Amino acid sequence: MAISRAGFRVASWAGQFLACSRPSWRCVPRTTARPVTTIRPRQFATAASESAPKKPYYVTTPIFYVNAAPHVGHLYTMVLADVIKRWRTLIGDADAQLLTGTDEHGMKIQQAALAAEMDTQAFCDMNYKTFEALANAANMDYNYFIRTSEPAHKEAVQYFWEVLEHRGYVYTAKHEGWYSVSDETFYPQTQVQKSLDPETGHTKMVSIETGKEVEWSSETNYHFRLSAFQERLLDLYKTGFITPTMYTTNVVKSVSEGLQDLSISRPAERLTWGIPVPGDNTQTVYVWLDALVNYLTKAGYPFAPGQGSRLGWPADVHVVGKDIVRFHCVYWPAFLMALDLPLPRNVLVHGHWTMNREKMSKSTGNVVNPFFAINRFGVDSMRFFLIHQGALVGDADYDNAYIIRDYQKLLQKGLGNLAHRAIGCAKGNLRTYIENGTCGRLPPATPADEAYETMLKDVPKRVAEQMENLNPRAALQEITTLIDQTNKYFHHAEPWKSPNDRQRSIFNVAESLRMAGILLQPVMPTKANELLDMFHVDKTDPAKRNYAAATYGSDADYGVDAKKSILFPPLIVES
Ligand code: ME8
Ligand code: MG
Repeated sequence: MAISRAGFRVASWAGQFLACSRPSWRCVPRTTARPVTTIRPRQFATAASESAPKKPYYVTTPIFYVNAAPHVGHLYTMVLADVIKRWRTLIGDADAQLLTGTDEHGMKIQQAALAAEMDTQAFCDMNYKTFEALANAANMDYNYFIRTSEPAHKEAVQYFWEVLEHRGYVYTAKHEGWYSVSDETFYPQTQVQKSLDPETGHTKMVSIETGKEVEWSSETNYHFRLSAFQERLLDLYKTGFITPTMYTTNVVKSVSEGLQDLSISRPAERLTWGIPVPGDNTQTVYVWLDALVNYLTKAGYPFAPGQGSRLGWPADVHVVGKDIVRFHCVYWPAFLMALDLPLPRNVLVHGHWTMNREKMSKSTGNVVNPFFAINRFGVDSMRFFLIHQGALVGDADYDNAYIIRDYQKLLQKGLGNLAHRAIGCAKGNLRTYIENGTCGRLPPATPADEAYETMLKDVPKRVAEQMENLNPRAALQEITTLIDQTNKYFHHAEPWKSPNDRQRSIFNVAESLRMAGILLQPVMPTKANELLDMFHVDKTDPAKRNYAAATYGSDADYGVDAKKSILFPPLIVES
């Protein structure tokens, strides 16, 4: 560099500004130290330095029952898993994998098809499409959409069963208990109660946990020796297997109280819609065993020797709602332990969306159609809202008024307006501010500048820490706080009043918007990129929009011909 920064400090500021506005050379951008030490994105390693290929990062959603159309709760799980996947891509995991799909077997589907007077397969073929359409409408960057009716999945389940049996974990016994078709699970006597059905006036038996109707069933079926895994499961919970840890308490309590062996098949005369038990056509595999294996199917199970991790197994994160914790945190690891297969690294549990404080549910019918919501508010606004308000611990109540409030306050006013004002204040000359800023040609920092810059430099690391903790909501809050702080900083700096001093504040605000744009990509892929486009951050070079680029002062090239545009147009608010 021809001119030292020290030289700039003694020269008059106005002189530098003039000199810099006629750039005849390119300066080396001022980069700060890489902000994150805990994350080592793959792309920073050279090909030569990578001896053994790493296992692809592997995220899953539950596979959804096709008995009815999806609702906003399903959309939330999809978006949460997608944000985690996209985050991995942002930090350089180019081959991160995301799996979603549909659960098409079991009594619940069999009965729903019967009620619809449809052939069961035709019913599944019709309904799965709506879930796939939702994954697409949500702009989910999934790698595969699995259906449990696929032949490859049937093979995986039957192989899984055979190994379980071969290893002595399966036996036949009479089973008596209360079965809930809606929950697809048996409940012991202690977990059911009588309840008056307001529609019929009759008393029925329901599950205490879910309120769903149960029916008495007495049958001979296959059992899995779940009880043999109590100690190993309790050890597993000490390793932080369940996120947030708060969900561990209940699981530990119920497993400590003792585990009964698990019924893993139903007589074919009751349940035909499923995968036959290998070697015994009179029994159908229990839908939950069938469904859980989907995570392995897509990782290439049965694995060729030494190939288990090639396609991602073990999963890094299973994202699930709190309604299916027992299946993922007790049954699933026990099945895998029985087969000596590596265990998933984490089960990320989230709370429920409620309507008037009652769980939104397909079977209750109190649901919001996610396609309508996406059409009305836009996919990125919905993704933003769900991550911002959706709860990992506890539930969140859904209301259009909350979406409109968040949109207007945080997106329209907070982010969109800030971007508009920053470009407006540069009066067609943003590029010069960027050039001066990245070259260090800045007026001395005031205490307010210093405090703000310290905060700004710290944000990417904080976002990364929250994402490493699998908390996209907290990560997003770091970004919305940044936007809020930037609005305050801009307001106090009053760059529109003092032309001589505006270099530093305009540069800082542009940097905050560029960094926020990069960091927002996992949550709002389209809008974040529109924001970066508005600032003319190079879109042909992925390195300009990845996590490493979210470093203060690291992009010397953007801002050319930046023009204001409206990122978040006014909503047409109806009542
Ligand atoms: O349980 N709020 O499928 P499912 C938030 N097929 N999320 C919700 C929700 C709500 N009100 N309602 C549903 C099954 N979900 C099984 C899974 S996996 C091997 C098999 C989301 O169609 C949440 O993720 O009932 C919940 O766990 C999932 O949908 C249940 O979907
Ligand atoms: Mg359900």
